[in-house]
Amino acid sequence: MPSRPPDTATRPDLTFRTDLWSQWKMTRLYDLLVVHGTYPLLWGCRWTHPARLYRHALRPGTTVLEIGPGSGFFLHRLAPGDLKLHLLDRYPGSLAAAATRLSRHRPLLHTGDALAPLPVPASSVDLVIAGMVLHCLRGQGVAAKAALFDHVHEVLKKDGQGEFLGYTVLAHGVRHSVPGRLGLALLNRRGVFSNSGDSLTDLVRALHERFEVVELSVRGSVALWRVRTR
Ligand SMILES: C[S@@+](CC[C@H](N)C(=O)[O-])C[C@H]1O[C@@H](n2cnc3c(N)ncnc32)[C@H](O)[C@@H]1O
Repeated sequence: MPSRPPDTATRPDLTFRTDLWSQWKMTRLYDLLVVHGTYPLLWGCRWTHPARLYRHALRPGTTVLEIGPGSGFFLHRLAPGDLKLHLLDRYPGSLAAAATRLSRHRPLLHTGDALAPLPVPASSVDLVIAGMVLHCLRGQGVAAKAALFDHVHEVLKKDGQGEFLGYTVLAHGVRHSVPGRLGLALLNRRGVFSNSGDSLTDLVRALHERFEVVELSVRGSVALWRVRTR
């Protein structure tokens, strides 16, 4: 079990949800309800937008770490055959679902928290992926979750050799539809999301402070990025 930061030590961590991220739900429901459901219907972002980032960043023979792979949907569709793949997730259910679907890559599996140091050697990874993960991480605002960016930077190859791609639903600085706004409030109340303080301004700042930004765009209420080490 990862250790909890001091601010959550005395309060229950509403984001710790093994029930939500069960293997059955991730395998049977995630693609239908989330990738083909909430992505376009609540957040105004079809899965083809993140898929374009994956296509640009994935190269045969490289070392890839996906944090929070969910059902493994994107790498299953888009990854070339010979990746050296690491999967990291806080929840055994998601990890098992993704590992099963991506078994042709013989992934190395890590159970861990995205806010903790990453369990792969420093400067060893070509590409880190964190799709729809930031908005799940506890913390009031992007700055409070910036440990993720520091840990990603640590494991990436340096001097422009390492890339980081991600996308996240934001609460501020992006447009929300009425269903999106209601969905955001409900998901935060239920502890599925923890992004009521996440803003585009803070995300842009956090990325620029650490990386060379190759691409940063917004689709509906989702910010998508592809950045490189300097
Ligand atoms: C919304 S799903 C995203 C799945 C997929 N990457 C996508 O783009 O659709 C969030 C993923 O992050 C994982 N997750 C949630 N909180 C986490 C944390 N604190 N540390 C690591 N993984 C986490 C979940 O188990 C799940 O696999």
